[in-house]
Amino acid sequence: METKLLTSKDIDEAGRILRNGGLVGIPTETVYGLAANALDGRAVSRIFEAKGRPQDNPLIVHISEIGELEPLVAFVPPVVYDLYDVFWPGPLTIIMEKSPIIPDEVSAGLDTVAIRMPSHPLARGIIKSAGVPLAAPSANISGKPSPTEACHVMHDMNGKIEAVLDGGRCDVGVESTVITLCTRTPKLLRPGVITPDDLEAVLGKIDIDDAVLGMLKDGERAASPGMKYKHYSPNADVIVVDADSKLFAEFVTERAYENGKDKTAALIFDDEGEKPNCIIKSFGNKNDDKAHANKLFSLLRECDDEHISTVYVHCPSKSGVGLAVMNRLLRAAEYKVIKL
Ligand code: TXA
Ligand code: MG
Repeated sequence: METKLLTSKDIDEAGRILRNGGLVGIPTETVYGLAANALDGRAVSRIFEAKGRPQDNPLIVHISEIGELEPLVAFVPPVVYDLYDVFWPGPLTIIMEKSPIIPDEVSAGLDTVAIRMPSHPLARGIIKSAGVPLAAPSANISGKPSPTEACHVMHDMNGKIEAVLDGGRCDVGVESTVITLCTRTPKLLRPGVITPDDLEAVLGKIDIDDAVLGMLKDGERAASPGMKYKHYSPNADVIVVDADSKLFAEFVTERAYENGKDKTAALIFDDEGEKPNCIIKSFGNKNDDKAHANKLFSLLRECDDEHISTVYVHCPSKSGVGLAVMNRLLRAAEYKVIKL
């Protein structure tokens, strides 16, 4: 199959492909999504094939207006309207009890459904043009870093889907915050740029799932099935190093000497005191957690393009948006953290 590269002028064509059961890579403010008609089980099952995604990992359903929500869920918990006032459209996904029109392919057999109203004008335009809600996971091959540019989607999906619509680079760079309202206290399942503090300002106290920063123990059931898989990993080996600037530089320089300077990269802060002697990738200033979120996935993909074999990442802060960055980074590194 030839995968067409569409532009912002082709919203109608994207809508037509989706209505006809096709798959389109679409820009959102977080990462690119791989979209299909959420009400068409056959179209949705093609998403799983294209990504190589495990069947038991449910998808997020994307809507463009609040009026599209009601038919998709068993009932709308009143607090959803409070969340809507503050965060929608935007990078927040809310899990609710599903209505019978949600196909099993979307919910992976659960009785809940994840809903998000993206803020990206092209994403909203494509949903409107399709005239149906869109199921869309991140548009990467399962296990790889999420795509933040159309060329990343092409790299992973060329020949497997009908089209990719190029909307430029994504603003946020990490996926939406996921919260479930199906527990007694609302629970954060995946951190994003909307932080626990932001959510607590609307919801009061929330719980944070253990898997957000921890490793799942053997046999433990993931509340959000996506959290149990190896995730966000480039081909390169990713190692997180928790140390001050000087120790980090010395340690990585020594490792790069053994491994090959041109095969070793360091992802470091721009305002770092000392820099190791290897390929340097800029992660933004140390206290700029939004820059870390924006750059993480694209830098990991860049390292693969340059055939780098090992990437040492100077450990960022876990607070605020940093919680989302660390959540992705720990999985990309398969929890390899060296503390000096
Ligand atoms: O920003 C985003 O959320 C992007 C863009 C494209 O919208 N989408 C995205 O989708 O990141 P995906 O499939 O890569 O991640 C969805 C996450 C997974 O961890 C999945 O397990 C979880 O949401 N999820 C979806 N439906 C769920 C449900 N009913 N219950 C619990 N977790 C759910
Ligand atoms: Mg994903």
